[in-house]
Amino acid sequence: MRNNLIPLFGAVFAVNFMFNDAVVFRFTNFECKSYNESWFVFHYYRLKAVSRDRVLLNVNGTILHPANDIQLRGKMFKKASGFKPWVLDSTVDGCRYMRKRYDPFLNIVFNIFKDFSNINHTCPFFGPQVVKDFYLRSERLALPFPSGEYMLALLWYFDKKRIFDTNVSFLYQEDLLRMT
Ligand SMILES: *[C@@H]1O[C@H](CO)[C@@H](O)[C@H](O)[C@H]1NC(C)=O
Ligand SMILES: *[C@@H]1O[C@H](CO)[C@@H](O)[C@H](O)[C@H]1NC(C)=O
Ligand SMILES: *[C@@H]1O[C@H](CO)[C@@H](O)[C@H](O)[C@H]1NC(C)=O
Ligand SMILES: *[C@@H]1O[C@H](CO)[C@@H](O)[C@H](O)[C@H]1NC(C)=O
Repeated sequence: MRNNLIPLFGAVFAVNFMFNDAVVFRFTNFECKSYNESWFVFHYYRLKAVSRDRVLLNVNGTILHPANDIQLRGKMFKKASGFKPWVLDSTVDGCRYMRKRYDPFLNIVFNIFKDFSNINHTCPFFGPQVVKDFYLRSERLALPFPSGEYMLALLWYFDKKRIFDTNVSFLYQEDLLRMT
């Protein structure tokens, strides 16, 4: 009985390995901007490619006054001769979200992201905001999505005013034969 399970585990492992190996999921661009540098400053934001499949995202910024009213607008774009709006354009109450995780889309993003940053607590947000060596892992996605290049624009509002943007572009590509 026991021995019969070994080939099964082997097969599951092989399929898992193939799946992960077959998907390219990495950052391609990152644009940030503060619209009010007396409230939020970026010290740096950058991508660094460490291999064909892995690109690290680093951000360091400071919130100069406590933020207690945070709205996060997420807009998704998919590239098709220029980025076109794709599926998502919604606004989430950031402080409520950090208490309740009530938004299913943000749950996907947060789940991929949370291990790499100190942005994991309830309001207020104040002081250093750091994302370190964040890279994308397709195994953290609940569902694969159509191959292509995407941009997720995240527009951050404090007290209803737009304070900064963090726009990230990424490639999601099923790549069974690694022909690209
Ligand atoms: C982020 O994307 C939004 C939506 O397309 C755009 O209006 C904004 O200018 C972008 N910000 C930056 C810093 O590129
Ligand atoms: C920028 O942020 C500061 C600090 O919170 C605030 O006092 C000021 O009104 C903001 N400026 C604008 C143009 O919103
Ligand atoms: C972020 O930038 C600030 C200001 O330059 C610096 O003091 C701090 O050490 C930086 N933190 C990281 C993790 O790079
Ligand atoms: C922060 O992250 C840790 C580890 O992932 C988790 O256990 C904790 O519940 C998180 N805290 C909040 C406020 O989400």
